[in-house]
Amino acid sequence: MKNMIFLGPPGSGKGTQAVKLAEKIGVIHLSTGDLLRTAVKEGTDLGKQAKEYMEKGELVPDHLLIGLIETKVTNGYLSNGFILDGFPRTVPQAESLKKMFVKNNMNMDSAILLQVSDEEVVRRLSGRWFCPTCQRTYNHPSNMPKNEGVCDDDGAKLQRRPDDEESVVRNRLEVYKKQTQPIEEFYRNESILIEVTGEQAPTAVFEDLLKVVNK
Ligand code: AP5
Repeated sequence: MKNMIFLGPPGSGKGTQAVKLAEKIGVIHLSTGDLLRTAVKEGTDLGKQAKEYMEKGELVPDHLLIGLIETKVTNGYLSNGFILDGFPRTVPQAESLKKMFVKNNMNMDSAILLQVSDEEVVRRLSGRWFCPTCQRTYNHPSNMPKNEGVCDDDGAKLQRRPDDEESVVRNRLEVYKKQTQPIEEFYRNESILIEVTGEQAPTAVFEDLLKVVNK
């Protein structure tokens, strides 16, 4: 299994697990959240259009994301296996991805859903810190850096994501339920949805994911 989508609410551990799994099985990890944050930081056209949606915890319009992913599909970036993290996030995005794959002779092996409760999401995201240089993520209190406030790898000062403020997190959860959860049904109907419990230690989640991909 080497073509996968990671689904799950904000803070369910998609990024944490996708980075490790992609490295372990030798596929590309493509996070639309990371691409958009880079675009915002660099002040590109995409970044300027995405910024206000992201700050409020709303979804960036479908056509922008679909165009972004279509480029990666058609230029062969995903040809040797991938984990898509954060895309698709709406039914129109899932339908467009399916069409792109048919057109480019590609297939999707599985859509892996990480299940985590709302309260666990709020708890995790209010403790999330990240390194602006290498993007490594930390969590208070479960995964702290050796020296408070600085990255273990490069010594950069850790930061918080603006959309991790509690009121924005609660809106992201609502948006997830209304706009993203319907794609669980989309992939269930395609018979490729696999559910994994995300509310356990990161190492236990990783072991479960390895079992899924090695099946
Ligand atoms: P995005 O960056 O994709 O945010 P998200 O889906 O809300 O996911 P997060 O990155 O917050 O969480 P995660 O599940 O990756 O968890 P993580 O591993 O980091 O998107 C941001 C925004 O961009 C969206 O709101 C939207 O505006 C826009 N966007 C992106 N894609 C889009 C699209 N396709 N269409 C439209 N708009 C789009 O873990 C979270 C924390 O928990 C970390 O601190 C981590 O250390 C900790 N943690 C992880 N696993 C565990 C564990 N097992 N136990 C305890 N703590 C854990």
